[in-house]
Amino acid sequence: MAGEVYFNIWDPEFRANPYPHYDPLLAGPPPIVDAGPMKFALVARYADVTAGLRDHEHLSSMQPAPPPEQVYEGRFKGARNMLGSDPPQHSRLRRLVSRDFTPRRIRELEPRIREIAKDLLDKVEARGQFDLMADIADVLPVTVIAEMLGVPPELNARFKRWSDTIIGGDNRMPGMPPPPELVRAIDELGDYFTDEIERRRSHPGPDLVSALVAAHDEGEVMSAADLLSFITLLLLAGNETTTNLIGNGTLALGRNPDQFDALKRNPAMLPRAIEEMLRYDGPVQSTVRFAKEAVSLGGTEIPAGALALMIVAAADRDPAQFKDPDKFDITRDPNEHVAFGEGIHFCIGAPLARMEARITFEAMLERFPRLRLKDPAMKPVYKGSYFLRGLESLPLAID
Ligand code: HEM
Repeated sequence: MAGEVYFNIWDPEFRANPYPHYDPLLAGPPPIVDAGPMKFALVARYADVTAGLRDHEHLSSMQPAPPPEQVYEGRFKGARNMLGSDPPQHSRLRRLVSRDFTPRRIRELEPRIREIAKDLLDKVEARGQFDLMADIADVLPVTVIAEMLGVPPELNARFKRWSDTIIGGDNRMPGMPPPPELVRAIDELGDYFTDEIERRRSHPGPDLVSALVAAHDEGEVMSAADLLSFITLLLLAGNETTTNLIGNGTLALGRNPDQFDALKRNPAMLPRAIEEMLRYDGPVQSTVRFAKEAVSLGGTEIPAGALALMIVAAADRDPAQFKDPDKFDITRDPNEHVAFGEGIHFCIGAPLARMEARITFEAMLERFPRLRLKDPAMKPVYKGSYFLRGLESLPLAID
């Protein structure tokens, strides 16, 4: 018999290990939590999460606007990006970038990503000390996406700071106004890209921002704020998530030395191991939908106006879908996880994320065959966001 439901994303203990708290949710229909003016459905079972994410007719990605004192938009005011839109707008926006994210286009980036990984590992080797997050995982994905967007490398650290601040703001207590550092990050990012958009308009290059500016000017499918929001989405979505795949995946390997050894002996298992990292401790814990009208899901009537948390990381631990779901098993097959979502919003960056992770692990294991956690008993410290789960730091031993 599963225990009582406890779901509190503001509790650091809950955030440090939400998985045991998913068990009661996996045992029955989605509960509805009444949080004053708002009702939440906690959707956890694999069948319910996949069905809910496919039902974009009833469960919208356009959330109702929160009270103005809780948001700060600056130059992004009124903007919609593909993640936060429904068809037909979503289909139009997604089409604009889909050709830049095909597996073929992504494969063309491989040599450059290898070079970035090599440079970062050279620095680690020279220093003899290794914090996976600061030295590799925080740096590689932001470098790749910034290059795709055509942003000069000197700005990567500033990008990372903006992106961390904006993402860290996503689970503020309800009713809290945005803190000054969040307002500042939104303003700086908005100003930077507003200037860049103007610059690319007169001096287009082979980068994604130029392509989006051209598409915007021809088709007028986006307002200026939409364009800004689109570029920012690519920066944020393409950054923190892959960082956390590398971090959470390495922690899982380090805590399961038999699996780590098996991978070191047979690096050809890497693609499957990465799928297991995504399933076992995915970077995205949950995404959110909004019930446009009352809808039945998994035996629960979700009332019109309620928010539905689609807890993909819980679905990926559902015993009805995965044998021994709490076991980290890099040979798991099949492994139809939902770490990249499901349905029309399925992650457009999945081929890129998978490739960045593969290159990073290949390069690390080749360079440091004895790689392991520096302190296997460490209690990892997580960053502030529940929705995007990732480590502050992860010291590794390389001798
Ligand atoms: C391991 C890394 C990643 C994970 C776990 C991940 C996860 C997800 C998930 C769960 C969604 C669906 C959200 C929803 O349905 O509400 C999503 C959408 C999206 N992701 Fe990723 N993502 C990753 C990497 C990336 C990268 C590298 C990029 C881009 C460079 C990217 C860009 C996007 C975009 C633009 C969307 C919105 C797609 C749409 O609305 O149609 N992601 N991602």
